[in-house]
Amino acid sequence: METVVSGIRSTGKLHLGNYYGALSNFVKMQDEYNCFFFIADLHSLTTHPTPQDLQKTVRNVVVEYLAAGIDPEKSTIYVQSDVPEVAELYLYMNMNAYLGELERATAFKDKVRSNPDNVNAGLLTYPTLMACDILIHHGTKVPVGKDQEQHLEMTRTFGNRFNRLYDVDYFKEAFAFSYSDKLVKIPGLAGQGKMGKSNGEADCIYLSDSEAVIRKKVMRAVSDGGPTEENQPKPDAIQNLFDLMKVVSAEDTYAHFDNLYNTCNIRYGDFKKQLAEDMVLATEPVRSRIEFIAGDDEYIAKVARLGAEKASESARKTVKEVREIIGLKKLF
Ligand code: TRP
Repeated sequence: METVVSGIRSTGKLHLGNYYGALSNFVKMQDEYNCFFFIADLHSLTTHPTPQDLQKTVRNVVVEYLAAGIDPEKSTIYVQSDVPEVAELYLYMNMNAYLGELERATAFKDKVRSNPDNVNAGLLTYPTLMACDILIHHGTKVPVGKDQEQHLEMTRTFGNRFNRLYDVDYFKEAFAFSYSDKLVKIPGLAGQGKMGKSNGEADCIYLSDSEAVIRKKVMRAVSDGGPTEENQPKPDAIQNLFDLMKVVSAEDTYAHFDNLYNTCNIRYGDFKKQLAEDMVLATEPVRSRIEFIAGDDEYIAKVARLGAEKASESARKTVKEVREIIGLKKLF
């Protein structure tokens, strides 16, 4: 059976984009593949979170993974730092990760531009760590978005280079994976493309947002003065709201408002109200599970322990084999 690996940065709460984009794929995959889903807490150290924030966000992500339907019996859900073998492999793989290629990574260049005062070695070698996350379980399928394509290419480069250097056929090539050809695009509420925290808090509907907060955010979403001509194309901000409606509302609700738009009879107040109600309904099951699971320390600990055990077993085997391949043999 093929192995799926995916990590999520533990920088905070999951939003609708994560849910309909990544998580719904994860939930489907766990029935077909050997899945490892982890919280990338080591990766998040590049930005120096406080210990309290780090612990809180890691716990949140575990809770939200579970609430979204990832089943700890079917999948391995673990916290990256619970498997220190990943950090050991990262050391080995860094010996064959070259400055030039690391510096050329788009995500790195973006960070250098946006955060010139914190260009640390961990940031530079982020792709090595990500490669190790995947290689350590011999993952071949990685459910990630377009923005991670280059990191996956680097993962293949590092694995292949290791194989060539030691004349082995050890690491496999991993590729991006999605059930649909088009990744479901979840636009944000700020009128500018994909939902994401980088567009501001108001852009995102979080899985843990209360009903009142969802309503408020949707009612305040960016819109405009309304159509002035029949059947005119929708400006981005309006199209975004319709795209969201397509995801959370019934087909005839969508058709109803689309028709009102095309006949210049739409009232954005009513439209948003409907969108907000449908969004509240669509997210209800996850929201109530989040509340339920978040209060159960024992269950969370049990899941994390089980995940750490399963992931460590796979990781220990890989690191042992890699040590042998490299020639790190004990003298005693
Ligand atoms: N870099 C990924 C992101 O920013 C997170 C990540 C870390 C990851 N390690 C991974 C994703 C391994 C897939 C596999 O979204």
